[in-house]
Amino acid sequence: MVKNCHYIDFKRVRGDVGALTAIEGSGDAPFEIRRVYYITGVPEGVTRGFHSHRELEQVLLCLNGRVKIRIKTPFEEEIIPLQEDSKGLYIGHMVWREMFDFTPGAVLMVLASEHYTEEDYIRDYAKYMEEAIPYFKKESRV
Ligand code: TYD
Repeated sequence: MVKNCHYIDFKRVRGDVGALTAIEGSGDAPFEIRRVYYITGVPEGVTRGFHSHRELEQVLLCLNGRVKIRIKTPFEEEIIPLQEDSKGLYIGHMVWREMFDFTPGAVLMVLASEHYTEEDYIRDYAKYMEEAIPYFKKESRV
């Protein structure tokens, strides 16, 4: 997968009474969870996101319906379909993301390592490339 991203399979307790998935910070999620938000009611054809974060780490989970996540670095790009409510997509530092093809009623939940701060966003793609090219070149030397 694209650098700084991976799947996380959370444990699902399933039975006749339904399914339960528990996510604990600094264990199941690879960071202490400081924020949870969720995205609902996205109209057909809409793409959200178009940004990267310098410090923020996130895990995305689709709790209902389906959604696609485009993850990009200056050197790689992949489209990840999310539909299983216990399969999370971890997105780490400096990865560009776009969320699209939400099915009607889709619920995208995001676990985040930091409180909301607009200063951590890179929303301008040219600015993103300027910071991300040296970042990922340096990463690949490690
Ligand atoms: P944004 O992160 O741009 O959404 P997306 O990447 O899904 O398109 O956020 C949309 C708006 O919501 C923006 O005005 C900031 C606000 N917001 C908060 O107030 N708190 C949050 O935790 C998040 C993620 C966004």
